[in-house]
Amino acid sequence: MRATAKRSADPTPRPWRPFVWLATKWREFRQEFHYRHGRSARNVTRRNTRRAYEKLYAADDLLAEYLVPERLAFYEEVAAIAAPFAGRSVVDIGCGDGNLLRALLDNVARRGNSIERVLAIDYARSALVRVGEVVPEAEQRVMDFLRGNLGGERFDLVLCTEVLEHMPQPEVARERLVQACTANGTIVITVPDGAVDVWEGHVNFWTEDQIRVFLAPAGETTVRRIDGGSGLLAIVRPQ
Ligand SMILES: C[S@@+](CC[C@H](N)C(=O)[O-])C[C@H]1O[C@@H](n2cnc3c(N)ncnc32)[C@H](O)[C@@H]1O
Repeated sequence: MRATAKRSADPTPRPWRPFVWLATKWREFRQEFHYRHGRSARNVTRRNTRRAYEKLYAADDLLAEYLVPERLAFYEEVAAIAAPFAGRSVVDIGCGDGNLLRALLDNVARRGNSIERVLAIDYARSALVRVGEVVPEAEQRVMDFLRGNLGGERFDLVLCTEVLEHMPQPEVARERLVQACTANGTIVITVPDGAVDVWEGHVNFWTEDQIRVFLAPAGETTVRRIDGGSGLLAIVRPQ
């Protein structure tokens, strides 16, 4: 009864209404499509493959999108924590564009120290091209860390930041990180907090307690929160 009354009160036809609805839906679809499939660092790296990372580091626009001020601040924060453990040699596993190594070497220099040997490892060749620009003093090695190893080379500080959550066999990487570390050395690892992380480009999600348990076989492990609470940093002393 009420519907009939309303129709008779406003008899003006609105033939355009379906078109307005269609246009709104089309706009929403295009926005969603661009968000999911458009050219962006997020969409490229969502695939979590070597090829995807090759593409990221090779493209200036994608890398600029990735290296936001928050990410550079993250490198500074990690570098400040890791610098006291630097010793004489450092290796960065899954080093990306080299900005963490740059922050670390600068931090160590500000403390009046220097590092004799710096090795940058990544499976994306284009990442190491960037490393050559950002950290010219570093040796570079293209290597899949799940397949290759360092052949007995050991380093006082082993860095592995925002990498383990991408690796389908993280326990293999854990063992190799220990092999890469000197007897009195330190491994510094960061991962996102798996309690809140839902990124499709990750294959592992650890909460603070879970990463502590996962890393325990590698040595004495302490975990702290970084990056405003959204990241986890583990300091592992193999022996
Ligand atoms: C999210 S990025 C982190 C880069 C850098 N460590 C940082 O903190 O910004 C992950 C990096 O790990 C590298 N990576 C992933 N799997 C790898 C593997 N199996 N061996 C070597 N590098 C790998 C990728 O190429 C990429 O540079």
